[in-house]
Amino acid sequence: MIFTIVSLATSMPTKRNKNSYTNAPPVGLEKLQSSITVTPSKAEPFYGSLPRHVTPKQVKKVMDGSINPFTNQPFTAQYKRILESRKKLPVYTQMEEFYRMFNKNQILIMVGETGSGKTTQIPQFVCYTDLPHTKGKLVCCTQPRRVAAMSVAKRVADEMDVPLGKEVGYSIRFEDMTEPGTTFLKYMTDGVLLREAMNDPNLTRYSTIILDEAHERTLATDILMGLLKNLARRRTDLKIIVMSATLDALKFQKYFSLKQGKPAPLFKVPGRTYPVEVFYTREPQLDYVEAAMRTVLMIHRTEDPGDILLFLTGEEEIEDACRKIQAEADDLQKQDPGSIGPLACIPLYSSLPPSQQQRIFDPPPSSRSVISPPGRKVVVSTNIAETSLTIDGIVYVIDSGFSKQKLYNPRMRVESLLVSPISKASAQQRAGRAGRTRPGKCYRLYTEHVFMTELEEQTHPEILRSNLANTVLELAKLGIKDLVRFDYVDAPAPETLMRALELLNYLSALDDECNMTPLGAIMAEFPLEPQMAKMLIVSPKFNCSNEILTIVAMLSVPNIWNRPIFMRREADSAKRSLEVPEGDHLTLLNVYNCYVQNIHNKRWAWDNFLSQRSLLQANNIRAQLKRYMEKFDIGLISTRDEIQLYVNIRQALVCGFFMQVAHKGAGEVAYVTVKVPEVVSLHPSCGLSGESEWVLFDEFVLTGGAYVRTVTAVKPEWLLEFAPKYYDINSFPNGKMKNALLQVQKNMRTPSLSIGAKKKKNKSKNK
Ligand code: CDP
Ligand code: MG
Repeated sequence: MIFTIVSLATSMPTKRNKNSYTNAPPVGLEKLQSSITVTPSKAEPFYGSLPRHVTPKQVKKVMDGSINPFTNQPFTAQYKRILESRKKLPVYTQMEEFYRMFNKNQILIMVGETGSGKTTQIPQFVCYTDLPHTKGKLVCCTQPRRVAAMSVAKRVADEMDVPLGKEVGYSIRFEDMTEPGTTFLKYMTDGVLLREAMNDPNLTRYSTIILDEAHERTLATDILMGLLKNLARRRTDLKIIVMSATLDALKFQKYFSLKQGKPAPLFKVPGRTYPVEVFYTREPQLDYVEAAMRTVLMIHRTEDPGDILLFLTGEEEIEDACRKIQAEADDLQKQDPGSIGPLACIPLYSSLPPSQQQRIFDPPPSSRSVISPPGRKVVVSTNIAETSLTIDGIVYVIDSGFSKQKLYNPRMRVESLLVSPISKASAQQRAGRAGRTRPGKCYRLYTEHVFMTELEEQTHPEILRSNLANTVLELAKLGIKDLVRFDYVDAPAPETLMRALELLNYLSALDDECNMTPLGAIMAEFPLEPQMAKMLIVSPKFNCSNEILTIVAMLSVPNIWNRPIFMRREADSAKRSLEVPEGDHLTLLNVYNCYVQNIHNKRWAWDNFLSQRSLLQANNIRAQLKRYMEKFDIGLISTRDEIQLYVNIRQALVCGFFMQVAHKGAGEVAYVTVKVPEVVSLHPSCGLSGESEWVLFDEFVLTGGAYVRTVTAVKPEWLLEFAPKYYDINSFPNGKMKNALLQVQKNMRTPSLSIGAKKKKNKSKNK
């Protein structure tokens, strides 16, 4: 592989803005807030300070003092050490400017290069002036990614010299690391804040809300921007900061424009980046993973010391690449310890457990002998490391040119994660990661021609490529019915909105006039996709809510099956022994039940090629969802009749997922999906045995063909009985599927055995 140098980024370190505000004048003293309930006592560092009237000078004095103003405990040596490094961050050196603008404005747009200290410093600055702890309020900072929320909260807890989960905490779906009454700085995913808004549309508990990584344009952040823009008018005491890592903030400035149409004020932190040399490959690469591995080893053999950041797309690919790189690098070093140093290859992706995530901040390995060159760290990451997390010491970036992106096909109603080319803006960000501490190099594993002609300028906002069912339900819960006139940053396609409304109507969450039904109101409360929420809520009617709860929890975690390359046969045979013939949903239930029975046997998961981590997570999620069930008085029921139980579970599945069904006519090999006909095959991982005419699936995947994954056999009678609106036979086009359903309907009308027997059975069960 040959690289050519093409461009030399020229952004040299800029001198920071000097401004004259060393002691910002108090603004609007006459408007003293009446909500101040506790004022610091004389001995406390904040004595004499008023919320929102604290000056930078006061803040610096408190930070440099010896007592932690938020706990009244002496600062530790670690605090002082970290403070020294914080003082070097561009954001820190702009503290005065920040306070001047924050004091003056209700809404502030902020931009600054990745690594300038936005996420870690700004929320702390706000705490020092809002003094939320004196008013029983909180400051929050949203993140699009769970990993970032957790990792940054940990860092900031260290910086503020408090234990994580006390004064500083985080909240992500299914995990709340905060302490009510104690936590006043909360990092959270944007999705969690959106859910909070549903129950408290005024978000009263927050004094300042910071939307971070706004340039990522995630669905939840986009909707939050719309809500907050509106809320700002109702709550004049609420301050809002929208932070972004890219320099084109004008869009946000215009969106949040002030009354006179003037763009919202911009707080810009000058970058501090070094030049990055960019290389492209001369020829297109057939296998970017292979090319990436070769490039890592090439850098390791020939380049000066400095760590490497490699961008790949997903967990499996990253783990695989890490193993191979590590093995080859170890070999190289063994052969030539005098000229090749040790290398540590560290993976980074969202489902990695927190303790492993922290490894990216470890220093590079040290050389084992004096003759050996210094060690090198290689972080192999998804695009989490593009802007969400900053890793110091990176000098070389390898950009595969791809990332996993969500795509939505409204016609098929399927949302899928597909490995897709990144945008020019992303490529630019990735390259920037190499020039944080000194001049760096970025190797793009694609040609310059591809960069210039094939990459889009910007990644499309998520709202344009997502299924909006959940969002529409959340908005309905917020009382926003006019979805077309909602103030979007970028409006979604009308077809996508229509599909969402239609789905919610079929699920009986919205009535025909788009009003929320009582069922819909409860569905909105569950942190789940509407189909799952519906299935869970109706499951007591089928006497299987305990089991559906388990299935929902198991569907909410990453893949539970381990399939190591060299032990595929053993793994497959272990899987077979756990499989339930009627379908994968029942298999998931069986795996969970066996796991719980063997909970004290630490080897059980390992012996059965199952992911201990995913099972533990499922257990945890199940416990949390159970609390939601109790809160809404949804009974936890099981029937003792095992054969009937499996039938009941499959019927409950139909109540949620009747739109994800495929049919195979007699003598045919392929399935065709219902209503929106698409030819699909059962995914190779599917354990369904026998020839089922009708199947219900959890996922539609498009990798090397159209597949359905996590599949369970269902009876057509159930489709007609439990989803009559969707299975209105008149709405089906003439063809095999319609004929099959007509036949079923005919059998159901004639008092045949199946229906009669079923009714009798139900009666006897109810006695
Ligand atoms: O948000 P932004 O990209 O502007 O920067 P940041 O995340 O606030 O990071 C500022 C500094 O804190 C960087 O030098 C990071 O390396 C450091 N940091 C860290 O050492 N450990 C973390 N867990 C997070 C940030
Ligand atoms: Mg950040």
